[in-house]
Amino acid sequence: MWTGYQILIFSFLTTEIWMEKQYLSQRGVDLEAYFTRNHTILEGTRFKRAIFQGRYCRNFGCCEDRDDGCVTEFYEANALCYCDKFCDRENSDCCPDYKSFCREEKEWDPHTQPWYPEGCFKDGQRYEEGSVIKENCNSCTCSGQQWKCSQHVCLVRPELIEQVNKGDYGWTAQNYSQFWGMTLEDGFKFRLGTLPPSPMLLSMNEMTASLPATTDLPEFFVASYKWPGWTHGPLDQKNCAASWAFSTASVAADRIAIQSKGRYTANLSPQNLISCCAKNRHGCNSGSIDRAWWYLRKRGLVSHACYPLFKDQNATNSGCAMASRSDGRGKRHATKPCPNNIEKSNRIYQCSPPYRVSSSETEIMKEIMQNGPVQAIMKVHEDFFHYKTGIYRHVTSTNKESEKFQKLQTHAVKLTGWGTLRGAQGRKEKFWIAANSWGKSWGENGYFRILRGVNESDIEKLIIAAWGQLTSSDEP
Ligand SMILES: *[C@@H]1O[C@H](CO)[C@@H](O)[C@H](O)[C@H]1NC(C)=O
Ligand SMILES: *[C@@H]1O[C@H](CO)[C@@H](O)[C@H](O)[C@H]1NC(C)=O
Ligand SMILES: *[C@@H]1O[C@H](CO)[C@@H](O)[C@H](O)[C@H]1NC(C)=O
Ligand SMILES: *[C@@H]1O[C@H](CO)[C@@H](O)[C@H](O)[C@H]1NC(C)=O
Repeated sequence: MWTGYQILIFSFLTTEIWMEKQYLSQRGVDLEAYFTRNHTILEGTRFKRAIFQGRYCRNFGCCEDRDDGCVTEFYEANALCYCDKFCDRENSDCCPDYKSFCREEKEWDPHTQPWYPEGCFKDGQRYEEGSVIKENCNSCTCSGQQWKCSQHVCLVRPELIEQVNKGDYGWTAQNYSQFWGMTLEDGFKFRLGTLPPSPMLLSMNEMTASLPATTDLPEFFVASYKWPGWTHGPLDQKNCAASWAFSTASVAADRIAIQSKGRYTANLSPQNLISCCAKNRHGCNSGSIDRAWWYLRKRGLVSHACYPLFKDQNATNSGCAMASRSDGRGKRHATKPCPNNIEKSNRIYQCSPPYRVSSSETEIMKEIMQNGPVQAIMKVHEDFFHYKTGIYRHVTSTNKESEKFQKLQTHAVKLTGWGTLRGAQGRKEKFWIAANSWGKSWGENGYFRILRGVNESDIEKLIIAAWGQLTSSDEP
């Protein structure tokens, strides 16, 4: 038979358990938001304190002498605590507010008398003191019952993705798992990798295409439609800051295929450039496109199949697996077999000196249509990393952090065509089609579209191209 007292205890416990659940679900939401907003501290235990402080004996009542029924659930210790006088004698099982409430002694002070277990909370889970968890690009350590987090700005910022996708900017953003966990600085440091163009490159004369000024340019042009099988899709540079090499090798390969009318359609090896274009020894730590084109002219590259990308770029700075030497009749030959021993052809491909294409929109279009894809040097803003589909334009963000990385923001890509489409606000917008080097899972199958004719992200600032160097025996 239950006494009235036991029913009281039971209903009290039920209420407490219900409240704990309410509180837990509420905490889950609140803390999540707080954590994302601030990244500084996670004070799960404070919430507990606020809820339970003083609520044990105060709610339950104090009992005279020894009374084994005078208990309540002590959540923090996962045990029962007592509010009878007897508890005082053992002094280990009293409720935390027993003294202050039942004996009217000095208020319990959490700083001098911590009574709940050490540790921190995150998503309803308790972590030991000293635990380390990763929160996007920051690591948080549980210390003194608080999460202490590093304060990096992350490359992937959920609020930026939301801003882009909610606004009518003409493109949509995505949370890329390959960028999650990187800091913004590492994004600029490892995912781009073209040095700002040298004054020499910028002062090069601009060439204009030989097509008549009045040439009718189609509304839509894609290099791979005009030259199927002769142009090359995007590779993935991963965390190797070598867009200088990827874009140069790719433009050179397309141009050699087009110029040889399909006789030489091999993709060229960016790894060959990364490992062997040695003068500055930049490799995966950025490089200059002047140097890359110099190498293509003077030394030449083997195919991508012959000298494939190394899986671990970090382990490869060891050196160049092959060189080329001249045969005295204007051709160069590789000094060694292919690093990929399945590939037998170690043919060397070379280019003419590079030339600068005029920055005028129509000149760039004529050049692509007549001679093939071109290299463009652009400035990458933080939102660009999140690009998924549409016509990219830089969406101004309030983050000042990226201004610190001005020098790291230069990137080289390949322009392969253009078009016109309804974009932001339903307006008709002109765009370039460009190949990036972040793999096919990024953007539109590795490509992106970007506003055309307005120098968006400096995309029209410096356009470079070259001819394949084919000897007469190479000509079709
Ligand atoms: C984050 O928390 C710290 C310390 O509590 C505080 O000084 C800072 O203003 C907070 N920042 C934001 C953006 O809430
Ligand atoms: C973004 O992606 C990462 C990894 O795929 C995931 O852990 C994270 O929760 C995602 N963030 C958002 C806000 O969707
Ligand atoms: C490469 O190695 C260096 C030093 O060993 C390290 O600091 C860096 O993070 C590594 N880079 C990558 C992309 O793994
Ligand atoms: C593009 O913008 C950059 C930076 O604002 C500027 O230096 C360059 O001259 C511009 N180029 C063209 C063709 O407008």
